[in-house]
Amino acid sequence: MKVMVGVSGGIAAYKAAEVVRALQRQALEVRVVMTEGAQKFIQPLTFAALTGHKVITSLWPTGESEDASMDASIEHIAEAQWADALVVAPATAGILAKFAHGMADDFLTTMYLATTAPVLVAPAMNVNMWEHPATQANLELLKQRGVRVIEPGSGHLACGMVGPGRLAEPEFIANAVLNALGRSHDLAGETVLITAGGTREALDPVRFLGNRSSGKMGYALAEAAQSRGAKVILISAPSALYPPAHCELVKVTTAEEMRNAVLSRMTEATLVIKSAAVADYKPSFVADQKLKRTGPLTIEFLPTEDILAEVVRQRKPGQLIVGFAAETENAQANGRAKLLRKGVDAIVVNDVSREGVGFDADLNGATFLTATTAIDFPDMPKRALADRILDEVVGLRRPQSLLVEMSSAAMSSSGTNDVSRLESSVEIDGEVFVAGPGSRRQIIFE
Ligand code: CTP
Repeated sequence: MKVMVGVSGGIAAYKAAEVVRALQRQALEVRVVMTEGAQKFIQPLTFAALTGHKVITSLWPTGESEDASMDASIEHIAEAQWADALVVAPATAGILAKFAHGMADDFLTTMYLATTAPVLVAPAMNVNMWEHPATQANLELLKQRGVRVIEPGSGHLACGMVGPGRLAEPEFIANAVLNALGRSHDLAGETVLITAGGTREALDPVRFLGNRSSGKMGYALAEAAQSRGAKVILISAPSALYPPAHCELVKVTTAEEMRNAVLSRMTEATLVIKSAAVADYKPSFVADQKLKRTGPLTIEFLPTEDILAEVVRQRKPGQLIVGFAAETENAQANGRAKLLRKGVDAIVVNDVSREGVGFDADLNGATFLTATTAIDFPDMPKRALADRILDEVVGLRRPQSLLVEMSSAAMSSSGTNDVSRLESSVEIDGEVFVAGPGSRRQIIFE
């Protein structure tokens, strides 16, 4: 989804860069429009570098090469239509007054009038300006018109005073935008245990046997689950990534440490997602001292315990268990065999032989398999894929009969059996189900 961030001219303008990053972490596409005042505090280049898009700084053509074309004069309308939400952070007293009174004298204020998307404002200003009856009356007017106000925090302000007026935290603003976009908290109340990264088995004090997993998929799942309202326990093998804020990180190294961590925490979980690449073998003997080069070396390996199989054996009623499968050949068939062998509710099958996706890559494509369905996800950023996987996992809590009914109803209403072209929603028993575009749902009637 696409979000326009409006930056107006206050000292908190520099914090808008963090707001942009927080929105991007939620897999939202972000563009930025700055008022003239904002440009006194922070350069457009900062936002251009963060978003990879031109930053809009004026209602009028600015560069020498830009002429006063029709395109430029209607850009605010095009941008207003492009955005699924407009969030102004920081919103100064001045911008709130202009919005409240319909004064359209620059790009941001003009776009505000032109957009029909949800509008959010995150005010930041001096405490006296915030408490002034004029500002409060403007806010009241905006609220009555449906603008969502992200209240400022209290504390020491840049002006030296103490009180309300600090820009809300970037994560808080991003969450408010997600809510406005209708991205539901469909994992609220759930505890999700996620494993990530590649385990390592020591050969001697300096060497280990590892694999190419970076942890990116598992960390993306942790962030997505958290933003959908879940409490997340992330059990991670070594990874260079920063964990998402507020999730509980349990660091492990070996398959055995991961096993112990998972089994000791899994009773708390309503959903277990095992995206870690776990070593299947460990050396039968770990040398105390660094192994010296003395000619050919033969190492005996012993199998590690299959953690996922153990998790399935110890599962509690109602607990959902999702595995991953890394395959280099016959991905679907091997994935399906693994699903049945491991007894999980679903398995995410990755063909890790493909260049540029999967292990250590930013992109991934996968097939989500259950006992009766196969859904192909095309290559996309791992954070976006994480949400698609969670959409399907949440769907597993629905009775399968509904799932079949939903897909066939969507297919017949659209006259296609290619679900990648479906964007329709179906209402069954008063609940609206959306057949996600971009994925191919193949219902297997068995
Ligand atoms: N897994 C696990 N414990 C292991 C090995 C794998 O819990 N010792 C989990 C992984 O986290 C993943 C799933 O099992 O969710 C499948 O992992 P994968 O490496 O694809 O398969 P294996 O079970 O190792 O089978 P094989 O290597 O024969 O394909």
